[in-house]
Amino acid sequence: MTSSQTLTTLVIFSLLTISYAATDPFKLPTHTSIHFPIRKHQTTLQYYTTFAAGNPQSPTTVDALIDLGAQPVWFDCTSYISPSYKRASCGSNRCKKALGSVCLGCNSTPRPGCSNNTCGVYAYNPIREYLTAQELGEDTIRITSTDGHSIQLNYNIPKFQFSCADSGIVEGLPGDHTKGLVGLARTHVSLPSQISSAFNLAKKFALCIPSSSITD
Ligand SMILES: *[C@@H]1O[C@H](CO)[C@@H](O)[C@H](O)[C@H]1NC(C)=O
Repeated sequence: MTSSQTLTTLVIFSLLTISYAATDPFKLPTHTSIHFPIRKHQTTLQYYTTFAAGNPQSPTTVDALIDLGAQPVWFDCTSYISPSYKRASCGSNRCKKALGSVCLGCNSTPRPGCSNNTCGVYAYNPIREYLTAQELGEDTIRITSTDGHSIQLNYNIPKFQFSCADSGIVEGLPGDHTKGLVGLARTHVSLPSQISSAFNLAKKFALCIPSSSITD
């Protein structure tokens, strides 16, 4: 695959770990952080990251546009297959916590993103300025830690909340494979908030973004 991006990182700090460790299934070793790659798309100059979702044995890799002001994480899940995926019902606690505001139905074959009585959360495509309610789902995502020099450990974070969207919403996103978006806003369901909660970390993150694209 040709690569015309600079790789830099999104780092969620472990420095200010709050010590509720007894109830916490995940504990980051000191002086390590959770890290996501950031790439710059050469023609649109937009930044995107990559994460893996679903069954840890055969995860789905998702390239997702980074949106500082967006609150949720969403991706096109029309071809998403994962036995551990769970949608949220209308009116459920999960739905309320994710600010679900509409109740969705679907008339075609049931699959992730197509169910009746489903909690709908808003997903916004900032390139096309297109806002639509999509199914609230949860699944395991796989993330990695770093000590600042190298990748350290993989963690499977269960019950990660995202919206499982129709393919129509990905139109115009930069990159050949970008099919989703990660929000970095200060809400329960943004990417850094969910990762910080899973590890009981302070809600603190750093973005290290490339100033230019590099062709290599
Ligand atoms: C939703 O309900 C309608 C009406 O009962 C039904 O025709 C449709 O197949 C259901 N959709 C799913 C995804 O189960």
